[in-house]
Amino acid sequence: MSSDKRSPLVVTIDGPAASGKSSTSQMVAARLDLRHLDSGMIYRTITHARLRGGEAPEQWTEQSVLHAARRVSVAPGATSFTPRLDGADCEAAIRGDAVTSTVSLVAKMPHVRAWVNALVRATAASHAIVVDGRDMGTAVFPDARLKVWLLALPQERARRRLVQRTGRAPTDAELAAETAELERRDLYDREQTQPAADAVWLDTTGMTQDEQVAKIVELALERR
Ligand code: DC
Repeated sequence: MSSDKRSPLVVTIDGPAASGKSSTSQMVAARLDLRHLDSGMIYRTITHARLRGGEAPEQWTEQSVLHAARRVSVAPGATSFTPRLDGADCEAAIRGDAVTSTVSLVAKMPHVRAWVNALVRATAASHAIVVDGRDMGTAVFPDARLKVWLLALPQERARRRLVQRTGRAPTDAELAAETAELERRDLYDREQTQPAADAVWLDTTGMTQDEQVAKIVELALERR
């Protein structure tokens, strides 16, 4: 917990893929009257910027990705931040398959990580935020007022993701394939996906989203 009363409030919500970080963070931010910053969105926007360069991702150097990163910014909206490339909103493009299948490669680059972390810190210097990601409570805001580590069993994360994508209950085969894919991603991302020693762990496997949000809001209000 930070003792610096001059710093804007920062709440970090980290956890593995599909643990519900972004939707939960957005709702927590709305309840606390803070803005939500999705740090994964910045990695996605850099990837989108670099993809426009045309070469195959296997040929990307870290320098060339950093060069693309310098065209990326985030703009404050009423409740969150939108991604910008050369000053233009690019929210729709960064959620597509091309970015999703390449972004992990970019997120492995140490200088790119340092660049993203500096942008996130600069944003937090002028705005009170709820920020979600993988390492917000460890690498970026070790003194955050509240750090949450959000987790759920892989099968439950897979089920939620499939319901969100298709709007119906998944078959056993779909569930098995999606669970395997999430476990593969957990393994690939594990280095940068670690809980802070002082994070509050929230296992959401048996919880509704409203319950998760209420719990985090309660913790944040206790520490405000
Ligand atoms: O949460 P997401 O799927 O939008 O994240 C996109 C990618 O960025 C994913 O590979 C995880 C990575 N990421 C990261 O390494 N560190 C963060 N703080 C946020 C995301």
